[in-house]
Amino acid sequence: MAKAVIGNLLSVYSPTQPHKANYCTFKHPTALFRRIFMANFRASSTAFVEAQPTDPIVVEKKVSQRRNLLACPICYESLTWIGDPDFSVTLDSIPGSILQCNTCKKTYVGKETYLDLTTASGAKNYSESMPASTELFRFQLISFLYERGWRQSFSVWGGFPGPEKEFELVKGFLNPVMGGNIVDASCGSGLFSRLFAKSGLFSSVVALDYSENMLQQCSDFIKQEENFPKENFILVRADISRLPFVSSSVDAVHAGAALHCWPSPSAAVAEISRVLRPGGVFVATTYILDGPFAVVPFLSTLRQNIRRISGSYVFLSERELEDLCKGCGLVGFSCIRNGPFIMISAAKPT
Ligand SMILES: C[S@@+](CC[C@H](N)C(=O)[O-])C[C@H]1O[C@@H](n2cnc3c(N)ncnc32)[C@H](O)[C@@H]1O
Repeated sequence: MAKAVIGNLLSVYSPTQPHKANYCTFKHPTALFRRIFMANFRASSTAFVEAQPTDPIVVEKKVSQRRNLLACPICYESLTWIGDPDFSVTLDSIPGSILQCNTCKKTYVGKETYLDLTTASGAKNYSESMPASTELFRFQLISFLYERGWRQSFSVWGGFPGPEKEFELVKGFLNPVMGGNIVDASCGSGLFSRLFAKSGLFSSVVALDYSENMLQQCSDFIKQEENFPKENFILVRADISRLPFVSSSVDAVHAGAALHCWPSPSAAVAEISRVLRPGGVFVATTYILDGPFAVVPFLSTLRQNIRRISGSYVFLSERELEDLCKGCGLVGFSCIRNGPFIMISAAKPT
């Protein structure tokens, strides 16, 4: 009975159309984005994408074969709501809600603002610490400062075009999966999650992060917004290397400025690949360092050794990112670059 009332956010739609982008011949998925890239990105390492009138995006509502999206991060089996049979998943209904894994029977209790779907959730005596690049964002102060200057600084020194322009670029890559569900992985304070939700281009949005304070900050921003579409939006705490979604259930995964923060990018991208349905699309932004560091053997070995010691994945090369996606079963790698900024995309084979 409980299963039957799981709302939109536990639903996923099976693909009705194959992934259309022609990855062999184009570096970018649509003519629009090829135009933007050619006109604005190649010319200068500091040039940003100009806001241009975009081709109208027709959002197809995919209505066949709904099934659960949220899964136990231990068994990867779908979760069932316990208690109120009229329960449906919305941002407002998370507090106090209880989900149970049908296989291992572990229960997950909704916190005030988010669902904690980490493997260690509910542990009384055990707590886990992650590498510094993950732990840093768990501090309340960092979460508070994130959209109040921290994120903006990426444009000053990192070549990031800024959230609005990045969002336009992301939409170009996500065109083939519009109307489906999207996971904003490592959403931080939710700047893109909120844009995805308000755009109305996706049937549901899952904003996911490991940081409790980032999720709280996202919730605070949402409370300040009028008419935010809460009914198709949910906040989830999870580790990127252990995603709480049923395999092949997600249409799109976006990860802004996060890949270099992940403890193991390969474990993370493998998880993303697992949860994407055939034709599902992965889009991410990060920093790269190419040039001599990518081609001169001594320098690339030096970089690898520095990475081993520091444990940080800031400044991979484009080739490494392509290899990472390929190694995790994703195809059709394409990218947009601007100085150290790179937006990459790849898809699950159909
Ligand atoms: C620089 S912020 C990016 C936020 C946002 N996506 C953006 O585009 O600005 C990186 C985010 O990655 C998250 N993160 C780091 N390690 C993670 C992990 N293991 N699992 C999930 N999220 C993680 C951090 O909590 C932080 O919110």
